[in-house]
Amino acid sequence: MNERAKFSSKLGLILASAGSAVGLGNVWRFPTEVGENGGAAFILIYILCVIVLGLSVMTSEFLIGRHTHANTFDAYKQLAPRSGWVFQGFLGVFTAWFILCYYCVVTGWTLKYLVDALTGSIGSITDSAAYFQAFTSSPWLPLAFMAVTLVMTHWVIVRGVQDGIEKYSKILMPVLLLIIAVPVICSFSMPGSKEGLRFLLRPDFSKINSDVILSAMGQAFFSLSLAMGCLCTYASYFGDDAKLMKTAGSVAAIDTTVAVMSGFIIFPAVFSVSEVAPDAGPGLVFITLPNVFQMAFSSVPWLGWIFSVMFYLLLLLAALTSMISIHEPVTAFLHEHYHLRRSTAAVIVTAVAMLFGVLCSLSFGVLNHVRPLMDMTFFDFFDFISAKIFLPVGGIIISLFVGWKLDRSLVIEEITNHGTLHIPVWLVRAYLFILKWIAPLAIGLIFINELALL
Ligand code: PHE
Repeated sequence: MNERAKFSSKLGLILASAGSAVGLGNVWRFPTEVGENGGAAFILIYILCVIVLGLSVMTSEFLIGRHTHANTFDAYKQLAPRSGWVFQGFLGVFTAWFILCYYCVVTGWTLKYLVDALTGSIGSITDSAAYFQAFTSSPWLPLAFMAVTLVMTHWVIVRGVQDGIEKYSKILMPVLLLIIAVPVICSFSMPGSKEGLRFLLRPDFSKINSDVILSAMGQAFFSLSLAMGCLCTYASYFGDDAKLMKTAGSVAAIDTTVAVMSGFIIFPAVFSVSEVAPDAGPGLVFITLPNVFQMAFSSVPWLGWIFSVMFYLLLLLAALTSMISIHEPVTAFLHEHYHLRRSTAAVIVTAVAMLFGVLCSLSFGVLNHVRPLMDMTFFDFFDFISAKIFLPVGGIIISLFVGWKLDRSLVIEEITNHGTLHIPVWLVRAYLFILKWIAPLAIGLIFINELALL
């Protein structure tokens, strides 16, 4: 058998994993949640969730992937043959596939808005809500943009682990981390931006209740790409010298920094245009921000251009590196488990995502009346099933698997790189305690809460 692919450097594996984590969740979903849930108070709780739950579950996914050097499905099969745990391997792969089907739709919108920013036409939109509505409900245009983002992702995936995923993560992620400063500065330079900053920095603890804490946990899981086989698959390409806990720490730090920076882009700008509520929901990025850009265009045109181009470029880069990481677990599974050629496997994944992506995209227009389940459109259905159902179930299973099922010596060997790393005993104990008790209980609560909201 050929030698299995590997990331060639530590920087490569950190940037690829960070590329997976940093995505629409950071730039689009995080600020929305912050706006709805009390500004800085939410951020503090979010950071706590990342440190306590996120890091433990991420380290566990890394451990499973790196130990087995196999795709997610075969990884569980190898660690717990002929047992119910194998279900998680299957679930991880399918969750990723489901997410890809609707994530590509929003990535397509991002590309369209980047084109509008580049041509400057974003500066002359008069009613951005109507514009967004007309675009997303039109039959062909969103499909074309969605298809382009899937083809770009496909193009990287077929190049393989080192020449595709690693190489492009090493290009796209540094660009993303460099350009993020530009929209932050532009946003700060808007008149009246201080109000937004105040909102972000002054914690309003009166808004904190159990729902807010559960939203913070859910957001942390989504943003860190947990429980969907992505990080587990990437870790199967890690070398034996990769430090799992440290890598998890770096990825979480990059992810959280980008999320908070996105808050610094969005709130000062949004407060500067009007009294719009900062909790305008997902429309924030595609409706409220274009208003900001129009204002910037009308006062200083080049500022409006730079601000809008850099913002949508940032969003696109973030989304594309995540799409790559969602494509890979499925491709690796089909390639390794069914012995298909990698390129054939990738074509199947892309084609199926394209097919369901069409349904998700059209659910904003001609298919809006088709409601496959509980009055949800296709888009909402795919989002709900993957992010609200499969994700917490997966999180619980992973924690229980590593906390209770795996041999403790195997777990310790992996996180200490066979005893060569000195990890304090208290940290190992805390890690195992979280996996055994805290994570399953906490994620179980998120899950029950999501269901109760139905
Ligand atoms: N973490 C990504 C984001 O923040 C989304 C994602 C989810 C990526 C699941 C991979 C797997 O947008």
